Amino acid sequence: MAAITVEGLRKSYGATNAVRGVDLEIADGEVFALLGPNGAGKTTTVEIFEGYRHADAGTVRVLGLDPARDASALRSRIGIVLQSTAVEQYLTVRETLSMYAHYYEHPRSVDELIEIVGLEEKRDSRVTKLSGGQQRRLDLAIGLVGDPELLFLDEPTTGFDPSARREAWQMVRNLTALGKTVLLTTHYMDEAQSLAGRVAVMVAGRIVAEGSPDVLARRGGEAKVRFRVPEGVSPPALSLSPSADGRVETSGDLARTLYEVTTWALAQHVNLEDLDVVRPSLEDVYLDLIRQGETS
Ligand SMILES: Nc1ncnc2c1ncn2[C@@H]1O[C@H](COP(=O)(O)OP(=O)(O)OP(=O)(O)O)[C@@H](O)[C@H]1O
Ligand SMILES: [Mg+2]
Repeated sequence: MAAITVEGLRKSYGATNAVRGVDLEIADGEVFALLGPNGAGKTTTVEIFEGYRHADAGTVRVLGLDPARDASALRSRIGIVLQSTAVEQYLTVRETLSMYAHYYEHPRSVDELIEIVGLEEKRDSRVTKLSGGQQRRLDLAIGLVGDPELLFLDEPTTGFDPSARREAWQMVRNLTALGKTVLLTTHYMDEAQSLAGRVAVMVAGRIVAEGSPDVLARRGGEAKVRFRVPEGVSPPALSLSPSADGRVETSGDLARTLYEVTTWALAQHVNLEDLDVVRPSLEDVYLDLIRQGETS
C-alpha cells in the first residue's frame, strides 16, 4: 500500500504559486527525500500532507486518509518535525515531552525518547538554554512521541554537528527497520544519498526529477579515470593526451582504461598515488537540474 499518494497538487499564497501540479506516490516503509532550493515549495507540500495547510487543488491521501478532512484521525498516526518549531521556552526538556505525550493514547516513554535523541544531560534544562542543535534534537523527540507510522522531517539535521547528523541518520534507519515510513526534506545531498531510497527534486513548485539517488547521480555522465603522469615518464597509449602538468582524465570503458593505465604504471615503475575513479555526484546533477528548472 502507498503511505502517500498525491495527484495534481496546487497551492498559491496570493500571487505566489508555491506548488504548481505535484504528483507523487510514496510507498509504505520507504524513506523519501524531497530536495529543492529555498522557496521551491517543499514545506508547503509537506504541510498539506500533514493537514496543516489546505490545497487549492489536487487529491491527497495519507495513510488512506484525506488530511484536509480527517486531520484529527491522521494526527494520532503521524509524527511531525516542522522546519521551525515553537515549543514553550520556559519548560524543561522532560516537561516538554511529557506535555506532548498527553496528546497520544500510546505515547513512547519520555525517558526512552530522551535517550533516543541523546539529550540525557539536558533532561532538566529549559528549552531556552539548549543550543540550536539540541533544540532540533528535542524537535525530533517530539516527532517520535506518538510512536508514529509515518514521520515527516522538514530539514531534520540543519544545525547539527557532523556526529549529531550521523546519529540522527542512524535513528532514521532504526525507524525504517521497524517498518515506519519517512518523508524528509533536506538541503544536504549526502543526507539524501545516505538515507533515502528515492528522492524527488522540486524546483519552483514542480517536481523536475525523481528516482533513486544513485540512478539520478548517473545522469551526470559516466565515471572517469583520473591520474597524473610524472615528469620525464612517457604517458600510456590512451586516446587522450595529458595536459601540460601531466594530468589525464579519460572516460570510456572503465575496466579497460584501468587495465591499460595500471599495466603501463607497473611496466614504467610509476607509483600512481593520485589514481582516482571519479563519478558524478548527486549534487552535480542536482545543481544542473536547478539551473535548468529556473530558466524553463
Ligand atoms: N504562509 C505563507 N504566506 C505566503 N507565502 C508563503 C507562505 N509560506 C510559503 N510561502 C511562499 O511559498 C513559496 C514556497 O515556500 P516553501 O516554504 O514551501 O518553500 P521550501 O521549499 O520549503 O523552502 P526552504 O528550502 O527555504 O524551506 C515561497 O515563495 C514562499 O515565500
Ligand atoms: Mg521549507
